[in-house]
Amino acid sequence: MSTSAPSLHILIAGSGIAGPCLAFWLHRFQPSSQITILERSPELRLGGQAIDLRSAAVPIVERMGLLGKVREKTTTEVGMEFVYADGKTKATFPASGNAEQQSMTSEFEILRGDMAKLLYDETKHLESVKYVFDEMIIAVEEKDSGKIEVTFQNSLPRLEFDLVVGADGMMSRTRRLVFGHGPKNDDYLYRLGQYSALFTMQRTEEDTKFAQWYNAPKGRLVLLRPDQYGTTRAYISVTDGNLSRFDEIDRLLQEGTREQQQAWFEREFQGAGWQTDRVMRGMKEADDYYIQQIAQVRMDTWVKGHVALVGDAAYCPSPISGVGTGAAIVGAYVLAGEISKSPTDIPYALSQYEKVARPFVDKVQKLVPGTPQIANPQTEWGIKLFNTVAGVLSHPFAKRFGSIVYSWIPAMGPTTIWSPPEYGRAET
Ligand SMILES: Cc1cc2nc3c(=O)[nH]c(=O)nc-3n(C[C@H](O)[C@H](O)[C@H](O)COP(=O)(O)OP(=O)(O)OC[C@H]3O[C@@H](n4cnc5c(N)ncnc54)[C@H](O)[C@@H]3O)c2cc1C
Ligand SMILES: *[C@@H]1O[C@H](CO)[C@@H](O)[C@H](O)[C@H]1NC(C)=O
Repeated sequence: MSTSAPSLHILIAGSGIAGPCLAFWLHRFQPSSQITILERSPELRLGGQAIDLRSAAVPIVERMGLLGKVREKTTTEVGMEFVYADGKTKATFPASGNAEQQSMTSEFEILRGDMAKLLYDETKHLESVKYVFDEMIIAVEEKDSGKIEVTFQNSLPRLEFDLVVGADGMMSRTRRLVFGHGPKNDDYLYRLGQYSALFTMQRTEEDTKFAQWYNAPKGRLVLLRPDQYGTTRAYISVTDGNLSRFDEIDRLLQEGTREQQQAWFEREFQGAGWQTDRVMRGMKEADDYYIQQIAQVRMDTWVKGHVALVGDAAYCPSPISGVGTGAAIVGAYVLAGEISKSPTDIPYALSQYEKVARPFVDKVQKLVPGTPQIANPQTEWGIKLFNTVAGVLSHPFAKRFGSIVYSWIPAMGPTTIWSPPEYGRAET
């Protein structure tokens, strides 16, 4: 690095996936920068189910030298099974064993918490990176000098930065502070009509090495997935095109207690059959219970002056897309790369970041028409139909026509749908 490389002071809000990944690449491409990462929680949030590393994120993680570590941590899941109401297995999708044409279980399947921990461990010892937990931004003000003055909630004094990045997830406060509630006053959320809870349960004899997907009428889904720690990761959700069904849980998400939220799920899952009684008990006992609305974040622009958003904060594709984590990794990489190309003109670097990353994000935000409703039917008849289609698709003969499915669902497509640019010289 030449001595003239400016020492940029960079603040990142959020230490999920996008935040630590951005710090990693900034350190690699722009080693003179000083990076502070804030996390609102007192410690890393390591909850969540398995996430997939697919398509464009795979080569980036490889360039980070982490693909081997990801492989060591992959969940033991061997594929996906669709389960009928009687609990009998009907449709089975084994993992494809081929990174270019992945099935519903990706070859790089890792628990969200394990991925977040990996990225944290790679960056926490770096001299130029400082993590601050239990802290968040409460005000940002762009000065005439181009510096951003930031006021914090807890321990940090008021400080100035050259760049502030919101990597604080789907409900980003940084987004609200800098971009407001959006032209439709909806916080830029495109609601998909699904609310879900995630938690870890004890594994029992009924759990297999497959992920098990069970639909009950009225849009109810139970998805149980094995992990490599001898426990089972549950995802339960309620899906409805009629958003009024969610008025109460929407309110409880903002101001309700955990008990009130869980009571809502219990009521919704009454009589749903299969293993739902066990799952409801597991939800109440879990210590990593996490609830969220399933939505996409859609914004016309992710950057403003010396502030940028990245990951779910800017363009959450939703877990239904299967590429939230991949998109966070791609965005963080491109943002760091563009900053290193134009370190003395941050607003220009940010506009380039958006220009380069937008076509990829547009691809991953494309959902199959009708999702998530199509995979979460409201009626017995709809479930039969869905399971029949799944049964046909899982047939070995039909799998040869997998590329048709992949053209509907870009997330399941090949790594070549978009290639990340090359940045920096010190790449391995
Ligand atoms: C606990 C949890 C469980 C999840 N489980 C799944 C899952 O099972 N499947 C799936 O597909 N996706 C899941 N996600 C979402 C997934 O992590 C993202 O889609 C994707 O990885 C993009 O990551 P991100 O870094 O942009 O956002 P996130 O991973 O959401 O990380 C955002 C981070 O910012 C922190 N934060 C929030 N607000 C502030 C603030 N104001 N100031 C500072 N820090 C803040 C959060 O605590 C979090 O650590 C989960 C997210 C979380 C937080
Ligand atoms: C939508 O849901 C609400 C609340 O559950 C219900 O009262 C209403 O009748 C539903 N509307 C339609 C058109 O189904």
